[in-house]
Order: sequence, then C-alpha cells, then structure tokens
Amino acid sequence: AAPRPVTATGRDTGAGATARSQDGQFLTNAQGARLPDGDHSLKAGPRGPVLLQDHHLREKITHFDHERIPERVVHARGAAAHGVFRGYGTAAAVCKAAFLAEDVETPVFVRFSTVLGSRGSADTVRDTRGFATKFYTSEGVFDLVGNNIPVFFIQDAIKFPDVVHAAKPHPDREIPQAQSAHDTFWDFVTLHTEATHHTLWNMSDRGIPRSFRTMEGFGIHTFRLVNADGASTLVKWHWKPKLGVHSMVWEEAQLVAGADPDFHRRDLADAIEAGAFPQWELGIQTFPDTPEQTFEGIDLLDPTKIVPEELAPVRPVGLLTLNANPTNFFAETEQVAFHPGHLVPGIDITDDPLLSGRLFSYLDTQITRLGGPNFAQIPINRTHAPVNDMLRDGFHQHAVHSGVAPYKPNSLDGGCPFFAGAAERAFIEYPTPVAAAAKVREAPASFADHFSQPRLFWASMSPVEREHIIAAYTFELGKCYEQAVKERGLQVLARIDADLCAQVAAGLGLPAPEPTEPPAQVRPSPALSQLGRTWPVD
Ligand code: HEM
Repeated sequence: AAPRPVTATGRDTGAGATARSQDGQFLTNAQGARLPDGDHSLKAGPRGPVLLQDHHLREKITHFDHERIPERVVHARGAAAHGVFRGYGTAAAVCKAAFLAEDVETPVFVRFSTVLGSRGSADTVRDTRGFATKFYTSEGVFDLVGNNIPVFFIQDAIKFPDVVHAAKPHPDREIPQAQSAHDTFWDFVTLHTEATHHTLWNMSDRGIPRSFRTMEGFGIHTFRLVNADGASTLVKWHWKPKLGVHSMVWEEAQLVAGADPDFHRRDLADAIEAGAFPQWELGIQTFPDTPEQTFEGIDLLDPTKIVPEELAPVRPVGLLTLNANPTNFFAETEQVAFHPGHLVPGIDITDDPLLSGRLFSYLDTQITRLGGPNFAQIPINRTHAPVNDMLRDGFHQHAVHSGVAPYKPNSLDGGCPFFAGAAERAFIEYPTPVAAAAKVREAPASFADHFSQPRLFWASMSPVEREHIIAAYTFELGKCYEQAVKERGLQVLARIDADLCAQVAAGLGLPAPEPTEPPAQVRPSPALSQLGRTWPVD
C-alpha cells in the first residue's frame, strides 16, 4: 500500500511524523545501539547461566510478552483494505459534507468482520458481517459503522451485553456448539421477539456470504443529513456491491470453513492483489424530517425496521473502490478504531436508542483495547485534517505539545486556536427539538410491532431462498437441548408464516403450534430477494 499521509497532533520526536519504520542498516536494540548477535543470550561462559544484565535479551522478551492486545469484544475476526471514495455530487441538495461533492476523492479504510467468533475463528460461519468504513475526509474522519444486514437484534443498547452474552460461546467450555450456547441464543431471540427480523435474515442466505466483495452494507439506524441551507433530511445508508449479492449454500460454507478458515480474508486480499478491485456504490434512502420521524407508517427510530426500496428508492451518491491491502495486519486492521459518533459537517445522528448507546460504547471499549485515550494518534486512526484538540498527556502520548496550558479563551497564548463557525465548516449539531416529557424507561408503542417486517421478508423470498431458511432454522433449532426453547422457536415462526413453521416443526419432529393470528396479507418487496435483485444499475 502507498504510505498514508499523516497529521500528528503535535510535534513527534525522532525521525519525523511517521512511527519508526525499522529500516536502519544495522540491527539495533530499541534505543538504537547496534547489536553484534541476535541468537545468543549473554552467559557466564558458553555453558554458564544467563546473566540478568543482558538488556537486549530482557528488552526483546519483555516486548514479545506484551505483543498481544485484547481482541474486540465483538467483531474480533476481521479483514480490511484501503481504498478511495469518489463523490458523485448527487447528494448536494440534502447534504453539505465535502466528501460527497462531485469528483472529490477521499481515502478510506474498510474493515469487514464476523460478529461472534474470536480472532482465530472461521470466516464462512453463519453470522452477521460488519462493514465499517473510515473516510479520511478534508473535514475530519467520518465513520460509517454498519453491517451486511439492514436491521438489528435489539431496539435499545441496554440489551447489547445480554444478546452478546447469550450468543457467545458458553462460559464453561468456550465451545459455541456446546450444550447451552444454542439454547441461550435461541432462548434470547424467542423471549425478545424484536430479534425475530434480524434472526430471519441470519437464517437466510445473507448469513453466509460468498465473499466480502458480494455483500451489501447498511448503516441501519436513520441518520440525519444537513444541507448548505441548514435544512435537515433523514437518511438510511446503503452499500451496493458492483458484483451483486451472492451467498454460499450451507454445505458449501461448512466445507470451506474446514478446508480454508481464512476464505473470506484470502478472497479479499487476492482480488485486490490481482487488480480486481472490489467496488460498492454508496446509496441513500431519504425521508422528510417530520416531528413523528416515521415514513409510510414505519418508525424510522426503530433499528429492527427497514424501509422497503419500493417505497423509498436507494439513490447512488458515490463510489467506493478498495485498491490496496494493508501492509501490516496488526498496525492497521487490528488497531483501527471506528466510532458511529465520528461525524463531519452535514451528517448528524437521530435519537434511535440503539445508536445513543453505541455513541458511548465504542470510545469506552477502545480505551481498554488500545491501551489508553491516545489511540487517535495511531497512524491508521489519524485524521487527514489538521488537528488542534487541546487534549493532553495520557498513556502512549506521542506528541510533544508546546505552549502554555490548553484552555480557551486564553489571553496568554496568542488567542490561537480559533473556534470555527458555520462559515468555517464547523460541526454544529442540528438543533433537534426535544419534547418536554417525563423521564421513563419504556419504548414507544410502535416498537412493539415485531412481526410485520419478518412477514414482509418471508413473503419476498423466492422458493429456493425459503428452502434454505427452513433448513437453517431446522438445523440451528435442532442444536438446542431444551425442548421448551425449540417449542418457543416454533411459536415465533408460527407468527411469521404457518408453512414456515410447519416445515421446521416437521424437520424437528415436533407438532406445529396452532397459528395464533390470522394469516397476514403482505405485499412482497422484490428488492429483498437476492435472486430478484436488479442492482447494480450501471
Ligand atoms: C464493533 C456494527 C450495535 C458495541 C462493531 C463493529 C461493527 C459494528 C461493524 C466492528 C468495527 C471494526 O471493524 O473495528 C454495529 C452495528 C450495530 C451495532 C451495525 C447496530 C446497528 C452495537 C451496540 C453496541 C456495540 C448497541 C453497544 C452498546 C460494539 C463494540 C465493538 C463493536 C464494543 C468493538 C469496538 C472496538 O473494539 O473497536 N460494531 N454494532 N455495537 N460494537 Fe457494534
């Protein structure tokens, strides 16, 4: 990969702005003293004891002992690539962000991931995939931290530790397939029926992508765009792969997991190395920013809901091309830190309660994972915009800040740095009205609808996609030991579709529960079927 431009948050000591590159002519210790030998410890004679005074030995072993950092608590397994994003200019009427303007090119770093497996787990397992993009824009870093499934398991971030605990390997044996891990996952998603929609997507072919290059990506939450006149529009973000959407079949995914657990990361790196650069169009679905924040009756603050593309078409606003593999997996893929609150002027958040919790969680976890508060100085995380943040000190501080104490206004420091206004493209939060309301721990009534969209998804599937979904539910529920969990799983399916429920019940050798609701009349959304897709449009 070409060297990335860097902007330090101050003056670096030593050889310039980049970290030491280990390209000196002689082998040295970390202090730069040249070494005569790298293979032998200092000993009292050839057969004598090793001496504690051997600083080279102790420095080398000590550093090795601390090479590992904690893996991400979720999305630990990932692969990434560098690339470039080119704006089409088609978003100008709704968004003033500079990187979306026509023909503006912005460097990006994209990390794809599975959610549940550890760093060494297999790529082709059935899971949701992360699709996180860091745009190094001229106005600061913008992170679009999305998934390949457009809805989420839960509606409120307070349940995130619970859903992850239920789905991660069971604590006593650390084996995903051990007794209870399937039971706890299915227990959670059947007791929290808001998870039904995401689970159905997971059980569909979307849960086993053919390649990172053939996945869609979704920002999931509704965000807010602000244009040059200060007007607000609500938005959902979409990535559309130029290669189309493709999945594996289950048997294929299992065989590949055994034969090549690195299949997806190898596929991505090989394609880029061969010059077959993967591309996605960034698209937006836009909605008027009304006080209700609904569109065609769909609550835009509910992250378990999509807006069908037939109701709100996805309009392309730019092109992403991944064209360079990372040089160093640890330095780049492992140390990159995404955050849904990394926003630029023209893009803002909404009050989706899942998003609000994420805004807290990512920075908090990264302080532990990356060893303190200064990880924005790690090369892969550095903004390409000039920085003057008044932050000081802390673990792993690399900048040598000069001047007097950082505070504003400051009559002793020449008045610099300046505060920016809208004209200087400051990030100014959109003045969303906040209703005068009592504090409550409850969800809006519309969040109680957990089944209309699973029915929409099922109704939109082709016959072969339905077969795959039935087989996946039968296989996965069949792994549960608890009869009560399997039965509750069938009761949930009965609320989606009687035939789906009956076929899974037959596969499990259990009676199908009586439908509790009349069959739903749902108009299918062709855009939801992988087989019926008309994208990409060239
Ligand atoms: C990591 C997506 C919800 C906490 C990630 C990553 C992605 C992602 C793509 C991996 C980033 C990377 O490649 O480094 C999403 C999406 C969500 C969601 C699309 C819902 C729409 C949540 C919630 C929480 C959460 C509700 C917590 C309240 C985390 C944490 C990490 C993570 C702690 C690890 C971050 C790190 O160590 O750098 N998420 N997530 N996520 N997510 Fe989420």
